[in-house]
Amino acid sequence: MSHPIHVLDFHPDTHAWRQEVWEGLQKPQKELPSKLFYDERGSQLFEQICELPEYYPTRVEQAIMETHVKEMTKLMGEECLLIEYGSGSSQKTRTLLEHLPQAAGYVPIDISKEHLQQSAAAIAAAYPDLEVLPVCADYESDFYLPKPSTQAARHVTYYPGSTIGNFHPSEAIAFLRQIRNICGLRSDLLIGVDLKKDKDILHDAYNDRAGVTADFNLNILVRLNRELGADFALEQFQHEAFYNEEAGRIEMHLVSLCEQTVRLDEHSFFFDADERIWTESSYKYTLNEFAHLAEQAGFKPTKVWTDPERLFSVQYLTPAPIRQP
Ligand code: AVJ
Repeated sequence: MSHPIHVLDFHPDTHAWRQEVWEGLQKPQKELPSKLFYDERGSQLFEQICELPEYYPTRVEQAIMETHVKEMTKLMGEECLLIEYGSGSSQKTRTLLEHLPQAAGYVPIDISKEHLQQSAAAIAAAYPDLEVLPVCADYESDFYLPKPSTQAARHVTYYPGSTIGNFHPSEAIAFLRQIRNICGLRSDLLIGVDLKKDKDILHDAYNDRAGVTADFNLNILVRLNRELGADFALEQFQHEAFYNEEAGRIEMHLVSLCEQTVRLDEHSFFFDADERIWTESSYKYTLNEFAHLAEQAGFKPTKVWTDPERLFSVQYLTPAPIRQP
């Protein structure tokens, strides 16, 4: 039997970000929120990044999923409700769904409604017995989960891709606590976490030779010009990405190549030559560091899978008492 697909729409407010942009550009260290990367073109560029030879995370995570999917789905249980944060094209999820024929349902959550509708329809067509319950929301804001028609034995939240790395550690703890609240105490978490490693491997992953990551980074300015009417001169900004070893994170910036002024609404933002806009952090963890972070959010890693080179990890976290640092 196949179910009709209805999107539970929380109307993520795409105009609230004008304020966020304005505040970010006013800071002494100018910054922009990395979630702004993902407009239609940005999502496409990200999918291209995932195919790049230098960008190991997607490939390695998928290999870990394929190698250990039986064990993963055994922990999840046959009748689980699978909830995915930032589901995008739902590609990786298929590996799990292949092994969960009895799942109570699949709840893909994404901020981009068209993308969500398309991928939800594709999943529903590929798995006719699966109840697909898409939610359009900014998953950092308030929303609730739809109820599947079959009672779920357990909730499992899937958060792949090391997207958790975009949060500063204290924010990551707050965010995992929020997942624990929204998805309930019987909710486990299957999460992809990128690991600390050789600096050169990290550097190359964010400085690909084809320049796709540079386009991805610069696309944020294209978007501000188009959607907010800003007047960034694109050729006067340059992509920069490096590993900040002390902080344990990749930082992406856009470097102003000259002194210049950018207008947005009635505001002027002045840039010195070499001044940067910080557009993204991508934190890398050791297994111990992440276990410690998870404990502070009320989760403990019950099982951790890695690839033989220990580039990336997929972790099965279960609710536990919140541990203070
Ligand atoms: C989707 C946030 C996991 O940080 O590696 C890829 C985004 N940025 N190349 C990452 C990204 C530059 C990616 N995440």
